[in-house]
Amino acid sequence: MGIELDAATAIDAYLQQHETKSLLRFITCGSVDDGKSTLLGRLLYDTKLLFDDQLAALEGDSRRHGTQNGELDFALLVDGLSAEREQGITIDVAYRFFSTDQRKFIVADCPGHEQYTRNMATGASTADLAVVLVDARKGLLTQTRRHTYICGLLGIRHVLLAVNKMDLVEYGEAVFRRIEADYRELAAQMGVPHVTAIPLSALRGDNVSSRSQQMAWFGGPSLLQHLETVQVARPASALGFRMPVQWVCRPDQGFRGYAGQVVAGSIAPGDEVVVLPAGVRSKVARIVTADGDLHRATDGDAVTLTLADERDISRGDVIAAASQPPQVADQFAAHLLWMDEAALLPGRPYWLKIGTRTVTAQITEIKHRVDVNTQARRPAKRLELNEVGYCNLSLDHAIAFEPYAQCRELGAFILIDRQTNATIAAGTLDFALRRAENIHWQHLEVDRVARARIKGQQPACLWFTGLSGSGKSTVANLVEKRLHAMGYHTYLLDGDNVRHGLNRDLGFTEEDRVENIRRVAEVSRLMVDAGLIVLVSFISPFRSERRMARALFGEGEFLEVFVDTPLDVCAQRDPKGLYAKARAGEIKNFTGIDSPYEAPEDPELRLDTTGTPVDVLAQRVIETLLASQEEKPQTPR
Ligand code: ADX
Repeated sequence: MGIELDAATAIDAYLQQHETKSLLRFITCGSVDDGKSTLLGRLLYDTKLLFDDQLAALEGDSRRHGTQNGELDFALLVDGLSAEREQGITIDVAYRFFSTDQRKFIVADCPGHEQYTRNMATGASTADLAVVLVDARKGLLTQTRRHTYICGLLGIRHVLLAVNKMDLVEYGEAVFRRIEADYRELAAQMGVPHVTAIPLSALRGDNVSSRSQQMAWFGGPSLLQHLETVQVARPASALGFRMPVQWVCRPDQGFRGYAGQVVAGSIAPGDEVVVLPAGVRSKVARIVTADGDLHRATDGDAVTLTLADERDISRGDVIAAASQPPQVADQFAAHLLWMDEAALLPGRPYWLKIGTRTVTAQITEIKHRVDVNTQARRPAKRLELNEVGYCNLSLDHAIAFEPYAQCRELGAFILIDRQTNATIAAGTLDFALRRAENIHWQHLEVDRVARARIKGQQPACLWFTGLSGSGKSTVANLVEKRLHAMGYHTYLLDGDNVRHGLNRDLGFTEEDRVENIRRVAEVSRLMVDAGLIVLVSFISPFRSERRMARALFGEGEFLEVFVDTPLDVCAQRDPKGLYAKARAGEIKNFTGIDSPYEAPEDPELRLDTTGTPVDVLAQRVIETLLASQEEKPQTPR
């Protein structure tokens, strides 16, 4: 029976009902028009897996809207369901469940449009096998290569190459053999070891659920026969026990348990464990489940562990076998699939979610981008939508992990945009970079408080942001002059000046601006650490980087001053003649013209330069600074 359900409880019920049969999880991928919907619909129909009422609706729809002259149009069925689902918005991937006498199946149906690579990756991360559809008339396309690359990256070891629409090439063996050979070469390059190629016509039902009379030359199985019999068992993992903590269960003072799913190895009461990344040790006391305590829990079990000692453990920690723990690190080499319209920019902070843990991460370097058509490695400063690359990754906290090749759960991660909360990348950890382990934080005897005290001031960072020509530098200059006259120790970092030295290698692309601001933010932090009042005057057009700068400082130490001069006023002033050049097309990526400026949403101070004299504005900045320091007197003058 074919059913389509979203709720986890329904999935459980379904699985229980068919407990004794083996389960195959697969995905279907193909380009638009390869016939994916038709194939799935045909498969469900031929195996009598449709609800009768769905079938009746299908017959009616096919007569009314079908493109197949009144014959059943299976694409209508699947597409109709997807359209309904898409109104719910939350699900990217549709999971369908069905079973035959031999086996039960969960198929992740991933839309084939280019922009849906994200969905494909989501489905692939839990699949054992991928059905890759190719149109017999077209052969391999870029999308075929991209999908196969992602399958390889996400550890799918079995591909069923469905060469579809054979009826449109007169069921010719030569066409099929050529596509099969092309694909085998591709799969080998992309690390997919097992390929079974089947010529079929989803529309006519050839080789879908039973062998076709039309292609006597083909000696292999039908699609369904292959799905029913293929052996996909992974070699047993040699890893010791690992369980990421999903939540801490404390119903009352007397009980403290750690709930999660075992992702490798097995555990029994009395076994020694280590909790990572902190590295504290204890012993397992009990393995608790809804059906009573267990003597042993293994890979795949969802359990609650209690430990012999009271330990400070929270969501995201990993409980592991003490004798065979995973590595802990905060810098990695990783494969990345970028899935957002806005490009990946090295240096920009993103949320990284791995297992049950979320940390802040930056791509510190893109080693190369991969051209999925040729497998060639290309240099890249950014990754665009659907591009794949190999990167260095730096986290703000160390995590317990496994290389993805050894453990999917502790080696796969996603990146999340910190402002929109959208998933923007999927990746796999390759190995830890040793570098981080060998660089330790050096304790210094003279600390920031001592340095500030001897100057008799509270250090701070005044961050001026605004368009070119808005008046940032003019105001900042005057503020510094006055603070200096009042006896404060200051330093002014100005965009134009810093770009002559420290940042002389950077231009005005988005990725260079991100790096420009990252460096100046780090420098201003060092200067605040040295006890100075630092004034930073950079366009700093992106919210994300200003937020990153703010996060480097303590509470109340960072004041964002938005020099809010409208674009047309800046362009009219045009002190350096740059707007004229930008408008004439002589300068590319000019802020406000063909590069964005994201105005601050909640600055400490907003200055309107159009009606107020500059000395009044400067005075306002100084008053705001001093007022913020009175609120938090740490190192009094
Ligand atoms: S930022 O965007 O990366 O913060 P920054 O403040 O360092 O910019 O440098 C801006 C200064 O560089 C401007 O005041 C202007 O004098 C000059 N400049 C040259 N080209 C550009 C450009 N394409 N966009 C903006 N400013 C530019």
